[in-house]
Amino acid sequence: MAHLIVYCVILTIISVNCRQIPHINNVFLQPGYTSNSTTISNQTLSQCLCVSSLSCPAVNWFPNGTCQVFYSFPPTYRIRSMTAARLYFPQKTYPNASLCCMPDINYLLNKLQSASVTLANISNPRDMLIDDSGYLVTVEMSLNYLHRFNATDLTSISRTAIPGYYQMTVAYDQGVFYSTPNAGVLMNAINSTTLAPVSNISMALIKDPRGILFLDKSQTMMITSNKNQSLLFFNRTSIAPPQYIYTYSQVVNNLSPHGVWYVNDSYFYVTSYAQKLVFGYSKNTTTGQWNEALIVNASMLTTSGGSTNIVIDECGRLWVPQETNTVYIFDQQGVLVGNYTIPGLAVSFMKIVDNYIMYLSDCANNQIMRVNPNIQC
Ligand SMILES: *[C@@H]1O[C@H](CO)[C@@H](O)[C@H](O)[C@H]1NC(C)=O
Ligand SMILES: *[C@@H]1O[C@H](CO)[C@@H](O)[C@H](O)[C@H]1NC(C)=O
Ligand SMILES: *[C@@H]1O[C@H](CO)[C@@H](O)[C@H](O)[C@H]1NC(C)=O
Ligand SMILES: *[C@@H]1O[C@H](CO)[C@@H](O)[C@H](O)[C@H]1NC(C)=O
Ligand SMILES: *[C@@H]1O[C@H](CO)[C@@H](O)[C@H](O)[C@H]1NC(C)=O
Ligand SMILES: *[C@@H]1O[C@H](CO)[C@@H](O)[C@H](O)[C@H]1NC(C)=O
Ligand SMILES: *[C@@H]1O[C@H](CO)[C@@H](O)[C@H](O)[C@H]1NC(C)=O
Ligand SMILES: *[C@@H]1O[C@H](CO)[C@@H](O)[C@H](O)[C@H]1NC(C)=O
Ligand SMILES: *[C@@H]1O[C@H](CO)[C@@H](O)[C@H](O)[C@H]1NC(C)=O
Ligand SMILES: *[C@@H]1O[C@H](CO)[C@@H](O)[C@H](O)[C@H]1NC(C)=O
Ligand SMILES: *[C@@H]1O[C@H](CO)[C@@H](O)[C@H](O)[C@H]1NC(C)=O
Ligand SMILES: *[C@@H]1O[C@H](CO)[C@@H](O)[C@H](O)[C@H]1NC(C)=O
Repeated sequence: MAHLIVYCVILTIISVNCRQIPHINNVFLQPGYTSNSTTISNQTLSQCLCVSSLSCPAVNWFPNGTCQVFYSFPPTYRIRSMTAARLYFPQKTYPNASLCCMPDINYLLNKLQSASVTLANISNPRDMLIDDSGYLVTVEMSLNYLHRFNATDLTSISRTAIPGYYQMTVAYDQGVFYSTPNAGVLMNAINSTTLAPVSNISMALIKDPRGILFLDKSQTMMITSNKNQSLLFFNRTSIAPPQYIYTYSQVVNNLSPHGVWYVNDSYFYVTSYAQKLVFGYSKNTTTGQWNEALIVNASMLTTSGGSTNIVIDECGRLWVPQETNTVYIFDQQGVLVGNYTIPGLAVSFMKIVDNYIMYLSDCANNQIMRVNPNIQC
């Protein structure tokens, strides 16, 4: 990646010092959540490299004459573009791959405690998503509305009545919202731009649908069924308007499968609402069956509420709300690593987007919340 130049530093105090310093043009190193560096302004490039001498592994040189000297490689960083900037490696050593943005969960939880918070009133909000227009979208369970918000300030953009009773979930795929009423046999497919219905999808074989996810480039739709204790798989038979038909189901070994999280076409997570568990499902490509593995057991942590939802952050941690004021956080092995407690809230669903901005829906108390911990990833 870096290439070599011969760079001569001539100074009166220090003797003539000719060194080859590897560098990359037009980039700088942006440290993550922690770093040890000094910034000195009004430096010539040679002064800057002299200051850094051999003791610093990385040096940013900015075209405005600012020099940033790192005493050690930051564990988390990004390489950013900037015309005429230069990134030097005076020790001819290079950083390891960056860790994820927030490897220290306690640091992140502290940031969340002092985050900026925006609230909006809404009746019975369920699952949330960000659509391709950048809107935050949810469904009001009762009475049955699809509601779009500005994702930054949570002002209402549109509120559209949709058919069916008790909307339990909403999903988004390729310009279409899919919402499922609890009572009723038709899933609503709605154009996300015009908000006009585009098709009805039969859910006659589903009792109490809860989570929706798309696999195989949207060829397959999987819906969790609370009452059937099954995952139901549907096959797409038409792209426009979208149409899916039921193909097969797989019984799960737990009560009330609920929230879903897509990892890849042969791995996803499903929560068990009543038992407060999270399972991983991996596809056996020989048989087409899904192998079930218990990942998280939150049943000892709280007796109220249920495990509605799961999200996985960019550090691979599992965030599992319980319809209480506490979201429990687990590592990939299912070990509890922390909790995020928001007094006065009962978190039913959540989303995490870039820079750990979070959206929390509180169905019981009729509100949604945006939390911005002011982190730059
Ligand atoms: C920048 O450095 C030059 C040369 O050392 C000096 O003449 C000038 O006053 C400095 N400017 C500032 C803003 O410090
Ligand atoms: C020079 O540019 C860097 C990078 O944009 C910036 O962080 C720094 O504040 C600037 N320094 C001055 C003195 O303008
Ligand atoms: C930063 O690096 C300097 C020089 O190696 C060292 O003296 C200092 O203790 C370090 N500071 C932190 C916070 O690690
Ligand atoms: C890179 O990772 C290795 C193995 O974990 C470690 O020994 C080494 O100190 C790391 N290097 C840097 C520059 O952080
Ligand atoms: C939400 O409703 C409560 C109670 O009616 C009201 O006090 C509050 O100002 C409302 N909040 C917003 C953001 O509209
Ligand atoms: C959302 O709100 C922000 C802040 O008020 C505003 O800058 C932005 O233009 C709004 N976006 C849309 C799509 O309305
Ligand atoms: C949604 O409506 C727009 C405007 O009529 C149309 O261009 C688009 O193809 C529709 N999308 C779907 C998925 O039906
Ligand atoms: C969906 O079904 C309802 C009730 O049968 C019907 O009124 C409506 O026109 C259908 N919508 C579409 C897009 O087919
Ligand atoms: C789900 O349960 C309903 C009602 O008990 C039943 O009619 C339906 O056949 C079941 N679906 C599957 C896929 O077993
Ligand atoms: C799914 O539907 C397509 C038609 O869109 C069909 O070609 C395919 O055989 C179906 N697959 C299954 C597993 O039913
Ligand atoms: C997939 O199923 C086949 C046939 O039952 C079995 O032999 C194989 O061990 C399974 N593979 C995995 C990874 O479970
Ligand atoms: C959350 O974590 C803090 C710090 O470890 C702990 O004191 C608190 O009891 C935990 N809360 C819950 C509800 O588990």
